[in-house]
Amino acid sequence: MNESDRADQIVTREKSAIPALLAKGLTKTYAHGEVAVPVLHGVDLTVGVGELVALVGRSGSGKSTLLHILAGLDDADTGSVFVHGENMSGANVDGRAAIRNRHLGFVYQMHHLLPEFSALENVAMPLRLAGRSRSEANQSARAMLESVGLGHRHTHRPSALSGGERQRVAVARALVADPALILADEPTGNLDRDNAAHVLDLMRRLCRERGVGIVIATHDAAVTQGVDRVVALDGGRVASER
Ligand SMILES: Nc1ncnc2c1ncn2[C@@H]1O[C@H](COP(=O)(O)OP(=O)(O)O)[C@@H](O)[C@H]1O
Ligand SMILES: [Mg+2]
Repeated sequence: MNESDRADQIVTREKSAIPALLAKGLTKTYAHGEVAVPVLHGVDLTVGVGELVALVGRSGSGKSTLLHILAGLDDADTGSVFVHGENMSGANVDGRAAIRNRHLGFVYQMHHLLPEFSALENVAMPLRLAGRSRSEANQSARAMLESVGLGHRHTHRPSALSGGERQRVAVARALVADPALILADEPTGNLDRDNAAHVLDLMRRLCRERGVGIVIATHDAAVTQGVDRVVALDGGRVASER
């Protein structure tokens, strides 16, 4: 895809009334041996196109569980999840993988880059898996790395990058296939304050520029600065929103 096609796609997305995420009535209970541990009690969450949402709550409040359900990596007991209008919760395993490939990027606390591959190859990977040619994938990956300020690092392997740089590569990889939605689970959890601020600024800018909806799960209050909305989870319920 060239840059003008990409611009067209983003404009189309902005015009569309379809939210990046529409989740309703999600419940989840885990079994710990004989004991049932309810984790989510009817969570609703909508994220608009180009909207940045911080999902806050203390450790154990269900943030990671919720993100995994939204990504179709885990099943809710009840409720529905639509990602950019596509029914994730109603799809089978292959259908979910297809929806993830088309519409979703994930950023973890640990960068999860492949150690044997360069930054460029890591960022190009989602496009290669989607069947793009090496030269096309590399061209998009190079532009994406430049956009996160790492154009000069594309031949480096993850081990040769700093923690903040690795996380910026992970953000570039999550965005390279132009998803409608990014789910980020404690993306700054392993970074010092300056690097955390840099990664958050980057996510904020890319959210605006590319019209992607972003959910950042965090227990770090600093992350809530400059987001569009803060959703607080407490005891498996949405306790407050602002
Ligand atoms: N796969 C699992 N099996 C059983 N219990 C789980 C599983 N994943 C999470 N839990 C439990 O669900 C609760 C919420 O965990 P989690 O979603 O990881 O919270 P957070 O990300 O907010 O720290 C915790 O009590 C945790 O022990
Ligand atoms: Mg968690």
